[in-house]
Amino acid sequence: MRQVASLFAFLVAAVSANQRPNLIFILADDYGFHDIGYHDSEIDTPNLDRLASEGVKLENYYVQPICTPTRSQLLSGRYQIHTGLQCGIIKPAQPNGIPLDDVLLPEKLKEAGYSTHAIGKWHVGFYKPEYLPTRRGFDSYYGYLTGSEDYITHLRGPGEYGHWKATGNWTGVDFHRNEEVTRNESGYYSTHLFTKEVVSIIQSHDAAKGPFFVYLPYQAVHAPLEVPESYVVPYMHIQDKKRRMYAGMVSAMDEGVGNITKALTSKGFSNNTLIVFSTDNGGQVYEGGNNWPLRGWKGSLWEGGMKGIGFVHGSIIKKTKRISQELIHVTDWFPTLVHLAGGNVSGLTLDGYNQWDTISNGAPSPRTEILHEIRPVYNNTYESFSYRAGIRIGDWKLIVGDPGNSSWVPPPGMSCPAGESCMGNVTTGTWLFNVTDDPEERKDLKGAFPEKVKELLDRIEYYNRTAVPPRYPDPDPMACPQLHGGAWVPWQKE
Ligand SMILES: *[C@@H]1O[C@H](CO)[C@@H](O)[C@H](O)[C@H]1NC(C)=O
Ligand SMILES: *[C@@H]1O[C@H](CO)[C@@H](O)[C@H](O)[C@H]1NC(C)=O
Ligand SMILES: *[C@@H]1O[C@H](CO)[C@@H](O)[C@H](O)[C@H]1NC(C)=O
Ligand SMILES: *[C@@H]1O[C@H](CO)[C@@H](O)[C@H](O)[C@H]1NC(C)=O
Ligand SMILES: *[C@@H]1O[C@H](CO)[C@@H](O)[C@H](O)[C@H]1NC(C)=O
Ligand SMILES: *[C@@H]1O[C@H](CO)[C@@H](O)[C@H](O)[C@H]1NC(C)=O
Repeated sequence: MRQVASLFAFLVAAVSANQRPNLIFILADDYGFHDIGYHDSEIDTPNLDRLASEGVKLENYYVQPICTPTRSQLLSGRYQIHTGLQCGIIKPAQPNGIPLDDVLLPEKLKEAGYSTHAIGKWHVGFYKPEYLPTRRGFDSYYGYLTGSEDYITHLRGPGEYGHWKATGNWTGVDFHRNEEVTRNESGYYSTHLFTKEVVSIIQSHDAAKGPFFVYLPYQAVHAPLEVPESYVVPYMHIQDKKRRMYAGMVSAMDEGVGNITKALTSKGFSNNTLIVFSTDNGGQVYEGGNNWPLRGWKGSLWEGGMKGIGFVHGSIIKKTKRISQELIHVTDWFPTLVHLAGGNVSGLTLDGYNQWDTISNGAPSPRTEILHEIRPVYNNTYESFSYRAGIRIGDWKLIVGDPGNSSWVPPPGMSCPAGESCMGNVTTGTWLFNVTDDPEERKDLKGAFPEKVKELLDRIEYYNRTAVPPRYPDPDPMACPQLHGGAWVPWQKE
């Protein structure tokens, strides 16, 4: 009897294990809303377009305005007011990271029997070894730990230290395989390196050992603008040099995604792999990116800062070839992917929702609101921040404080349409929009709907009461790469 029961349990486990998909999460960096083919872009993205049109395009999808906040929320499933990372990005020499008591997505997937791999940009802390990807749920890691660097030399310069009394040589190599610095990648473009790594993980994966999770935060298409010349050739008609380079970088990334899908097909994995594609924030208009027709850009609480490109592809999706207008936020991937992996999130305090029924079946989103941000006034000797907050409830969005980067920026080569204003210079204030009716945030309704303003402000106050104190430590001179053999590595002991 017992034998029958355990045989039965074995069969059940084997069947459900087979149905659990491989997961590939591709996160593009600073990829603008206007810059994907299916958003009427002048940039060609045939591979991304094909995957998106075969799957579900997420057109009411939100990320955070900048890198670390989006990455920390994706990996922890929690708003940054709940992790202490509400002040901004983690600078290379700051002893900071997602708190170690936050369980990360790869840990849950590993627990569920996935093999887990991170390839690309980390940027959620590395000052002690226990913050490294390989200590936080990833079986393997290949990439760089800081927020940006040279695509080819893989050197991270001292750029951001001009205003800080740093001495020594702050240029160091930032490229790692697992926990070791690797120096032989110099001369190879990161989009090629990261794609090749993912292809080789797919090729060598043994399906009998369970599914895999690949987290691929590409360096593309963040500054610096660097790309092998061949990718720029199709764009010689683009006059603006930065836009031209950026378009080439997007094309290289698109080709990389194409290579990954080919590897899936040749390995027979294409019918049991789910691909999620997302940007981390709006495009940086000073570095070739564009978010037209949305207002604002990277760093701002306007839609151009955080209404993101996103889509999902995979044969486990029930209703494919769709556009979803359901409200989805980057924190939702954590419970959604853990659900698909057959795991559970019991015992965790998450801000995300399981969106699988929404994505797969077109069910209404369980999410009715998004806390976009609450950034407290924060002063120290290193940097100061002003207060700002943003919230979305249903169709309504409220911004208070300094939203940042407020203009509508047409793509290079296009001028502001006649009769429209493209300048949106503001400093601080309060704005209320119905973003469903007015996604371009042109008509401030705070005067017409004072009770709505009050309702959303109250909700911000509610969230603010749940906030933990921000962590934004001064940079640590001990991080200097010169002290560590010319490399960016954890500089504090466990
Ligand atoms: C760098 O070296 C490692 C180990 O020696 C090797 O596995 C890897 O393929 C090399 N990478 C390149 C780009 O040559
Ligand atoms: C895609 O694969 C082709 C053929 O192997 C290769 O030449 C190309 O460099 C790859 N592209 C990327 C972005 O890795
Ligand atoms: C995927 O395709 C392979 C080969 O065609 C087949 O053996 C397998 O059963 C399929 N799996 C699913 C989940 O459809
Ligand atoms: C949730 O997962 C944990 C392992 O992380 C397991 O111990 C627990 O039994 C699961 N709970 C449910 C309700 O499935
Ligand atoms: C923060 O710093 C700014 C600029 O130095 C200053 O104007 C402001 O009063 C400070 N705010 C607080 C709360 O200390
Ligand atoms: C600083 O370090 C980088 C990388 O190790 C090296 O290429 C550069 O020559 C160094 N500069 C100085 C002034 O020592």
